[in-house]
Amino acid sequence: MLEKITAAFNLLIDNELRTTCGTWHLKCNISAPMPFHSFKALKKITSRTDSALLHAFKDDEFDQIYPASVSALSTCHWSPVNVCRMAAQFLVTDPGTRVLDIGCGPGKFCVIGATTTQGHFTGVEQRKRLVKTACELVECHQIPRVEIRHGNITQINFREFDAFYIFNPFQENIMPALRIDYDVELEPQLYTDYTAHVQQQLMRMPMTTRVVSYCGDDGEIPACYACEKTAFTGKLKLWVKKHPAPAYASAAQSYSKENSRDIPVGVGPFALA
Ligand SMILES: C[S@@+](CC[C@H](N)C(=O)[O-])C[C@H]1O[C@@H](n2cnc3c(N)ncnc32)[C@H](O)[C@@H]1O
Repeated sequence: MLEKITAAFNLLIDNELRTTCGTWHLKCNISAPMPFHSFKALKKITSRTDSALLHAFKDDEFDQIYPASVSALSTCHWSPVNVCRMAAQFLVTDPGTRVLDIGCGPGKFCVIGATTTQGHFTGVEQRKRLVKTACELVECHQIPRVEIRHGNITQINFREFDAFYIFNPFQENIMPALRIDYDVELEPQLYTDYTAHVQQQLMRMPMTTRVVSYCGDDGEIPACYACEKTAFTGKLKLWVKKHPAPAYASAAQSYSKENSRDIPVGVGPFALA
């Protein structure tokens, strides 16, 4: 009986994900967010013996490098290995290309990017526990060219970077079923504000700046970027800044109703002058 109820619940959530977030990459088997105390029981990443997992092609192998409570979130929240590899290849054009992962979780994309390309990968993550896991992974395996920062995307200077990776960082705010834990505040307005903030920052980047988005509705991508390549049946997209930012980029209340990807910029708590 319990199994039937669980199956029905998952089907319901699955349908919700498919309709509300049509491009969500895989069926997510949603369970209740992890309570605070469960995180305290996280296995520390200390063993050097499983370094081979870093180079695994399969997610169920790579994810074993994480504590069980973090790998359990992988299907829904962390990019698949083959997506990380291709995204990194799209973004790194020269040795040392500086890539920012916007909301890096436990650092899966950064670590795979750094072990498969010559780029430098920085991840910013608002959840302290995921930052700790990512840092332990990087330190334990002495992975070069990875930096993990604890903080909010609004504290990041985008000009430090050449390229950006975006996998649905703000979706949790509008889809409570996707909540990772209760460590951070979530609310629909934050989705709008963070998306607008990222869009505004990307708009101001130099021409030829590269962004890769995976799934999501691409609300962060300004209209001055063009989609140059896709992979994984269109779910992975490489965007390149092709046009100068429109004159209204720094003006408040500039909202183009013609372009559905544009959302109000220069407004909200994080707007820059
Ligand atoms: C869907 S996960 C993607 C993780 C990673 N980028 C990947 O592809 O495997 C989104 C992550 O973004 C983080 N996040 C959401 N909003 C954020 C914000 N405003 N600042 C920093 N991190 C944020 C979440 O905590 C979560 O770990």
